[in-house]
Amino acid sequence: MNVDDAINFDDLRILAKKRLPKIIYDFIEGGVDDEDGLDRNENAFRRRPLMPRYMVDISERDQSQPLFGRQYSSPFGIAPTGGISNYRWGGDLMLAEAAREANIPFIMSGAATASMEDLAKVAPEHGWYQLYVAQDRSISEDMIRRAADLNLSTLVVTVDVPTGSNRERNRRNGFGRPLKLSLASKLDALRRPLWL
Ligand SMILES: Cc1cc2nc3c(=O)[nH]c(=O)nc-3n(C[C@H](O)[C@H](O)[C@H](O)COP(=O)(O)O)c2cc1C
Repeated sequence: MNVDDAINFDDLRILAKKRLPKIIYDFIEGGVDDEDGLDRNENAFRRRPLMPRYMVDISERDQSQPLFGRQYSSPFGIAPTGGISNYRWGGDLMLAEAAREANIPFIMSGAATASMEDLAKVAPEHGWYQLYVAQDRSISEDMIRRAADLNLSTLVVTVDVPTGSNRERNRRNGFGRPLKLSLASKLDALRRPLWL
């Protein structure tokens, strides 16, 4: 199976597991503290069924929404994910391009692997910048100034990580600061030439 044959998230998950070293796969697939939040998030969507309405004119369907002074094609966008190039090299800008094509917002992470300057080139209207507030205020002020100088339309300030999170799989795999790669993790990475 390749990515074009994948028809749902489970298929994509199988492909990702094959391609990525375990330490990387576990980072994107795992959650914190018994991973309860992952189930809760998915169940929140399951509790919201879509209600079909028949015998109505569907020749024109429009789910566009105004947001921060701009009209987007859908009322949702792409959430920020840091360190994307661990999963797919150049992934930040691929997502930015996809968001531009679909006319939805893409939030580039403050822990992105591309620069704000690149984002402004690829998706000047759809790229939002996510700020992780630094302890040293002058760093944050500098980032905000850069975003403004580049005319990025929207700044997203993340407030939900006042402390580090307890990602259990990361702890087992030695994925922390400082990074402690075991011999097993190194050998596992060598077995994934496509990812390397
Ligand atoms: C691998 C990974 C990296 C993430 N990096 C960031 C980040 O850099 N900044 C941020 O605000 N949220 C980050 N998040 C959180 C996501 O933006 C999102 O809020 C979260 O995954 C919940 O949405 P979901 O249920 O659609 O996954 C990350 C999530 C994952 C899985």
